[in-house]
Amino acid sequence: MSNKYITTPIYYVNGEAHIGHAYTTFIADTMARYERLKGNETYFLTGTDEHGQKIEESAQKHNKPTQEFADEISATFKDLWDDFEISYNKFIRTTDKNHMAGVKKAFLKMFDKGDIYKDFYEGHYCVSCETFFPETQLIDGEFCPDCGRATSIVKEESYFFKLSEYEDKLLAHYEANPDFIMPRSRANEVKNFVKGGLRDLSVTRTSFTWGVNIPESLNDDKHVMYVWLDALLNYVTALGYGTDDANMEKFWPASTHFVGKDILRFHAIYWPAFLMSLDLPLPKQIGAHGWWTRDGEKMSKSKGNVVFPREVSDAYGVENLRYFMLREVPFGQDGDFSQRAFIDRINSDLSNDLGNLLNRIIGMSAKYSEYEIDSVDVEKYHTKELDAMNIALDSLDGYMKEMQTHRYLEELWRLFSIGNTAITEHEPWAKIKNDKADEALATVALVSNVLAKACIMLSPIMPKTTATVANALNFEINNESYNNMIIDKKLLKLFNIKKVPPLFPRVEEPLMAEAPNAEPNPPKDKVNGEAREGALGQEKASKKKEVHESKAAFDDNLIEIGQFFETSLKVGTVLAAEEVPKSKKLLKLQVSLGEDDTRQVVAGIKEFYSAESLVGTQVCVVANLKPAKLMGMMSEGMLLAVKDEDGLCLVRPEKPKKAGTPIG
Ligand code: MSP
Repeated sequence: MSNKYITTPIYYVNGEAHIGHAYTTFIADTMARYERLKGNETYFLTGTDEHGQKIEESAQKHNKPTQEFADEISATFKDLWDDFEISYNKFIRTTDKNHMAGVKKAFLKMFDKGDIYKDFYEGHYCVSCETFFPETQLIDGEFCPDCGRATSIVKEESYFFKLSEYEDKLLAHYEANPDFIMPRSRANEVKNFVKGGLRDLSVTRTSFTWGVNIPESLNDDKHVMYVWLDALLNYVTALGYGTDDANMEKFWPASTHFVGKDILRFHAIYWPAFLMSLDLPLPKQIGAHGWWTRDGEKMSKSKGNVVFPREVSDAYGVENLRYFMLREVPFGQDGDFSQRAFIDRINSDLSNDLGNLLNRIIGMSAKYSEYEIDSVDVEKYHTKELDAMNIALDSLDGYMKEMQTHRYLEELWRLFSIGNTAITEHEPWAKIKNDKADEALATVALVSNVLAKACIMLSPIMPKTTATVANALNFEINNESYNNMIIDKKLLKLFNIKKVPPLFPRVEEPLMAEAPNAEPNPPKDKVNGEAREGALGQEKASKKKEVHESKAAFDDNLIEIGQFFETSLKVGTVLAAEEVPKSKKLLKLQVSLGEDDTRQVVAGIKEFYSAESLVGTQVCVVANLKPAKLMGMMSEGMLLAVKDEDGLCLVRPEKPKKAGTPIG
């Protein structure tokens, strides 16, 4: 066991939290919960960044004293994280006395060491980014290269940090620690920045007063500290730098600082240089995530399209939002929030896969064994499923270490498919009828264990939901059950299922107002690829359509997208196939369109496919055709196929997909 220290950035108190802030907080919270689950003592820090010109100006705009303004906004962040049950150990504010004392102490240490000196600074300053930029980097000689806002020329006396002296040491650190910046693909941009030459950094300001004063012993009270020096130091003052050496010793260096890609430079260049100057070890990792857009567009107050986490959680629940955000994007890449994609995930992953498995377990155990589950025969009948489950479970830690929560969840979802497929394949209802109760009960116990293990590993992402499922399965999720069931691979023994209400009701309609100018929603249940791309995707799609239209106008009758979606197309898996006697053309197939939906399809493909060759393959099925009789046999669907002079071939998904997955 080791100690872990995980941090979020501290959020500026000039506005309310949006889903971008929620995302960093969710990943950090997930990681902290994951470490605790594994038994590592974990300190998790979040908080607010309250000094600097930007905050001072925001307070003035609101006609409020700066501290009062900062208090109010800081409280909105804290309340939000409390309501979301974020498991932080400390919520730091840069206006806390201890923090300010620690910052002064650090400044003095750097000064005494000769790393901070006094000079003059003249440069272009962006108040919004609280950063100076050299003229060469400005857009049109005036605008900030990061945020596009106008910069102003500031000339002032300033203390400087000798950043230039740390170039080589920083480069050596990146070389020796290839995992320092995650994802690794971002390391080059940092290295190139450093190789381009580092200038000494101005670390005090005299043009405003809302900041930490430099140490009294320097007798220079017109200087306040540069907000980024003040802010970055929060990571050590929170542990007790200067006040609590034991806690510092226990948790420093940080395991991971989670940050957005826009503030990677501050964390991967300035912060390590400050720490080297303070003779403190460097954090083990900086995890830089991408940015969230809404329906393909940058969120901004002026567009009125900002997604507020509380609005989403009121409509859909915070755990669904956590799941969606961590499942939807590869860590490091930008992500898009659209209600369509969100609803799709809730319905297909949570309601269909997870929720259904629990409902089926409750239903079967009620019918077969008065809610009693006994794992005694699981190993006898289900080694195949147990092996598949263990392979998936064993891969999870690697994904979490790489912060690839989307792959982690994708792999974890294999368990639900193993569970649901086991029920379909082993048909416990038939076994019960055929006096094979022990086999039927073993299947129910298998899937209960699959669900229990999946929930342990899902708990860092959905702590409350998984606790409810664990309660239904009569166990608790904690380090002990993690050790028993995940590390030692044990099964739950004899227990009784408790009934719980359905956890994930399907969402049929968007539950929040759409962003202004957003495209109308597609028809229910037709949330899919193209529609999911959001506004940007649709813009692309409509451009594509324009080009296509002039040609299509001659070839086909054009239809609306809604008309296309009136046809329900699904992926099917052929479970069985046989020739129809006396027919030259027909084969009779049993096609699975998901757990409880097996269709008989009579298809005219006998001249092109043998019955045996089709079993186990996948097909595309029109699932909402009225059933029809062919040679006296009911056909409950139609297969998609292409026929030309060379013969006929079936249309199939390029890669295996779950039976029942909608096509569109
Ligand atoms: N106060 C500094 C951080 C100091 S850490 C020592 C700051 N604050 S911030 O409130 O502007 O941003 C906090 C975090 O939110 C940053 O990591 C930033 O990348 C992230 N995000 C802001 N907008 C975002 C999105 N639209 N999407 C995802 N994250 C975004 O920077």
